[in-house]
Amino acid sequence: MFKGLQQKWKVSGWQLLLIITTFAFGGSLCGYAGRKILGLFAIDSSLIRVAFYIVLITLLWPLCVLIISIPFGQFAFFKNYIRKIGKRMFGKKVDSSQLTVHSGQKETGHQPQTINLAIFASGAGSNAQAIIDHFRNSAVVKIALIVSNKPEAGVLKIAEKEDIPSLILEKEKFFRGNAYVDELKEKGIDFVVLAGFLWKVPSALIKAYPSKIVNIHPALLPKYGGKGMYGIHVHEAVITNKEPESGITIHYVDELYDHGSIILQAKCDVEKTDTPESLAAKIHVLEHEHYPTVIEKLLSK
Ligand code: GRF
Repeated sequence: MFKGLQQKWKVSGWQLLLIITTFAFGGSLCGYAGRKILGLFAIDSSLIRVAFYIVLITLLWPLCVLIISIPFGQFAFFKNYIRKIGKRMFGKKVDSSQLTVHSGQKETGHQPQTINLAIFASGAGSNAQAIIDHFRNSAVVKIALIVSNKPEAGVLKIAEKEDIPSLILEKEKFFRGNAYVDELKEKGIDFVVLAGFLWKVPSALIKAYPSKIVNIHPALLPKYGGKGMYGIHVHEAVITNKEPESGITIHYVDELYDHGSIILQAKCDVEKTDTPESLAAKIHVLEHEHYPTVIEKLLSK
């Protein structure tokens, strides 16, 4: 049950414990405050008293858990949680005839076809954020899903903040099952963007999305690519080898690490004073500048 909750809310075990504690203390505070407020009113009928108490604690509960969530460091989670409950209760019902269809399905009316993107990431997700920002007002491209192999990845916090559905991959199912192809198709995903995703993509997924999976690598491939060449290791190797320049490579994904055909490369100088960290920062600037626009160009073909 706890594992299920952890996956549903995309939180670590430790955070789940803090959330449950907040629920417990928030509920107690709410009951206590409710009884105190009830005591201020002289209501004779016990039926009305009960009804009044129920209304009171319903109204007080969100406030109480929000207050309690602050010392437990869970304010962001509960703010979002309560907002979602509110939306579910009072949000506008969507008329199914207004739903946008994804490509591959028949279009209705004059609505433009939506291209649904899934972003796969294992880390902080700054590239994912840049892509989300780029397509925020797009009438055509929708970031429909954030996928990660790490429940504690920063990118899942971004998904939560941006209200984008997310999916946490299980190793066994990804590598020995159908690589989540059924789930992705079910969600209408048309195109897959890898943005700092550390697992190798299984061939079942590549076959299901031919020429529709792209990756970004923080170096000028074919140099500094392959197994073990990720994150800061790439920049360390570039600096150790005294390369005069580095850069980014955006490429299609095939069965080998960092191998598919190259779509774009952009370069930057490596100064003698550069550290792996300062080089990583320069590379990130290049990535955020080019990755979203390259994706847009690919999708408009
Ligand atoms: C980027 O440098 C990307 O090139 C590499 O992983 C890093 C991810 O960074 N594949 P972020 O999580 O998007 O900030």
